[in-house]
Amino acid sequence: MKVLLVGSGAREHALAWKLRQSKLVDDLLIWPGSAAMDALGSRLPMGLDAGMADVARLARNQGVDFVVVGPEQPLADGFADACAELKLPCFGPVAAAAQLESSKAFAKDVMQAAGIPTAAFAVVQGETACRQKAEQFLANSGGAVIKASGLASGKGVFVCQKQADIDEGIERLYRSGMAKSAETVVIEEVLVGRECSFFVFLGEGQPTPLGFAVDHKRLKDGDQGPNTGGMGCYTPVPWLPADAGDTVMKKVVQPLLVELKKRGMTYNGCLYVGLMWSDKGPSVVEFNVRLGDPEAEVLAVHDQRDWAQLIAAKVGLLDDNREFESAAAQNAGASVCVVLASPCYPYGEGVPQKFEVPREVFQNKGDVAQVFAAAVREEQGRLLTGRGRILTVVSHGKDFVEARRHAYATIKKIAAHWSGVQYRHDIGSVLVEG
Ligand code: AMP
Ligand code: GLY
Repeated sequence: MKVLLVGSGAREHALAWKLRQSKLVDDLLIWPGSAAMDALGSRLPMGLDAGMADVARLARNQGVDFVVVGPEQPLADGFADACAELKLPCFGPVAAAAQLESSKAFAKDVMQAAGIPTAAFAVVQGETACRQKAEQFLANSGGAVIKASGLASGKGVFVCQKQADIDEGIERLYRSGMAKSAETVVIEEVLVGRECSFFVFLGEGQPTPLGFAVDHKRLKDGDQGPNTGGMGCYTPVPWLPADAGDTVMKKVVQPLLVELKKRGMTYNGCLYVGLMWSDKGPSVVEFNVRLGDPEAEVLAVHDQRDWAQLIAAKVGLLDDNREFESAAAQNAGASVCVVLASPCYPYGEGVPQKFEVPREVFQNKGDVAQVFAAAVREEQGRLLTGRGRILTVVSHGKDFVEARRHAYATIKKIAAHWSGVQYRHDIGSVLVEG
């Protein structure tokens, strides 16, 4: 089959790598793609500013059998709707359902209506109301979470334990380029527990759970520093109860699908359920309408199944054949991934430095780690980094000790010449200590 993959980040690099391993995929087109992904597929000749309908039309004219959308923005912008108009199968929800991520206010409303466990909340508009409500939550419950309702690349959430945190969150929301995403703001109580995420492929036939991963959202070791899009993760999650997956399907995913149906929506694509797990079980922190980044990277390496087949079944191109799902479903052992970010991440302060990424890092010749990249560009044959989360180093081992050893051995080599590179040293370390 011929597949179009939409996106250009490390998550899409991992998806491209995964799709290319399938017998089902004999041609991979990528839009917009990146220099790091060129070895895996050809770029669809369409500019970055192209409309969703134009990209979908070109894909159909080029004989694409189905589309896989990596990031949330094209989904919020109606990419899946454009595909539906052309009867081009697309793995990724239509814009109405993608509001589960693009509008946190919508997601909370759906959760409340569906009886899905989640934090108590209020929806406000404007800085004055935001401040008032956040201070009220702080006074009444000892904490408040302030969240831009719109998309903010993982940077629009502020967990506040004291007044100064509220002041800083409000400053960032309203005066550092996020004002549009923060037109509506969700204020929540602070949930207590351990955080993890659950991933499930949805569409035709039965849901296919991919399992759990734990991301590390704070920039620095020991969960210090600002929230980021994610600095590394591990899978599986050994501290969860054995029936955790069934619990999330029953308490969250099934009621969600019922509620969406009541609202006239079907969901096709990967659903990402962000959770806080306590003695009382799971409570939903957020929904995303895509795989996580870097969770996609670690799951793509850890999961032995053929994702192209799973996805083709979800978009109705294959029978919902359980055979390929159950066989060798997940790797035994453990996997970790660690993100290497530019010196100025996440707020873009400071002078961005260029680092040349040696191409060999992507050509895993029996190496112990697989490397995926975002934000790299080609200049005179050299791959240069930009700003942001740049490389994701993923490795698998018989246990977390081995997986960590493999990942950090590769990182040591890459980071040796990369001045100011930021990464966490403690991904998965809680699982191997004491
Ligand atoms: P979100 O984008 O909603 O996932 O929020 C980003 C991060 O902020 C989450 O991964 C949590 O670490 C934290 N967070 C969000 N909401 C809450 C909450 N209600 N209680 C505690 N932490 C939260
Ligand atoms: N790693 C968090 C996210 O993808 O939203």
